[in-house]
Amino acid sequence: MDITLSAIKADVGGYVGHSCTHPDTLEKARESLGRAKEEGILIDYHVTHCGDDIQLITTHQKGEDSEQIHKLAWDTFVECTEVAKKLKLHGAGQDLLADAFSGNVRGLGPGVAEMQFTERKAETILIFMADKTASGAWNLPLYKMFADPFNTIGLVIASNMHSGFTFEVHDVLEAKKIVFSAPEEIYDMLVLLGAPGRYAVKSVYHRQTGEIAACASTQRLSMMAGRYVGKDDPVCIVRSQGIFPAVGEILEPFAAPNIVKGWMRGSHHGPLTPVPFHGSKATRFDGPPRVIAAGFQLAEGRLIGPSDLFDDIAFDRARQNALVMADFLRYMGPFEPHRLPLDEMEYTTMPEVSEKLAPRFQPLDE
Ligand code: F6R
Ligand code: MG
Ligand code: MG
Repeated sequence: MDITLSAIKADVGGYVGHSCTHPDTLEKARESLGRAKEEGILIDYHVTHCGDDIQLITTHQKGEDSEQIHKLAWDTFVECTEVAKKLKLHGAGQDLLADAFSGNVRGLGPGVAEMQFTERKAETILIFMADKTASGAWNLPLYKMFADPFNTIGLVIASNMHSGFTFEVHDVLEAKKIVFSAPEEIYDMLVLLGAPGRYAVKSVYHRQTGEIAACASTQRLSMMAGRYVGKDDPVCIVRSQGIFPAVGEILEPFAAPNIVKGWMRGSHHGPLTPVPFHGSKATRFDGPPRVIAAGFQLAEGRLIGPSDLFDDIAFDRARQNALVMADFLRYMGPFEPHRLPLDEMEYTTMPEVSEKLAPRFQPLDE
């Protein structure tokens, strides 16, 4: 059975500040998707949140980039915005950058990860959702899951994974893409993946079968709006088991938190902290950045789950380490590398300050 799994997210108003969503907005989203399920547009849906972002997880048979599904997501976010406005939530409608829907939510503000596949006998799916970070945040974990044998032992000892995976990488500044084969091309690929502000993994495929293994939202909000309107807070879907990495191989990268861009005012580096669902409220210095993992089995498109995969003591030390990393970075206050480098501060006060100070700069007499 061909299924499309769409994860579409947006921040349409925070409670309190940018720390979390309000239950009434989530309820509104459930009402809207519930109607669509009754009308037969959706097979199933699950509404959740990570921090201040509403996550619409849907299954259907309309394919990727379906106008009907994207319009449903857009209209749902518009309805949630109305609730957010009534409650005077903070930044109501902040991620809905366009006045009206036009064909597809890409470029209009929401983040999208979608994949179409033939549902296997047992279809195990993990959906990662992050808050207070940018779209390249998945580069390091996706690399480890699908290309690093020290993380994924299946690459070495499972014959159905031994031929490796291909990575589609997007240049988010120049809107270009390139495909790499792992393991042969990992050194070239890492030159790009190590610069996640510019290059982001869009999708990963199993080489032998061509099956889609993972896809991520790569939309960059600041590039769409031309000004800072919030971080991308990306989402990522990963298929698991069989020809794909096991659940534990997919979760393993998050045991060693990577430092990502985001946190306070989207202008700082911080550790991507794995948390259970109830731990996604971002408070300390509006963060630190965090990620939740929702596990599902699919049954003819029905979403069986979610299982809260970071709700395990095995991730307690990762959380503690992330907090120690957060302390070290916070010691730096407004200094790099806690604060992002100048070229990534262009949507803050930085240009205004540069302009104001420009006439006061004198040449050095050297
Ligand atoms: C980070 C984030 C927050 C806000 C900060 C200021 O992604 O959303 O750190 O940037 O709380 O918010 P405003 O400008 O809305 O008062
Ligand atoms: Mg927000
Ligand atoms: Mg957010």
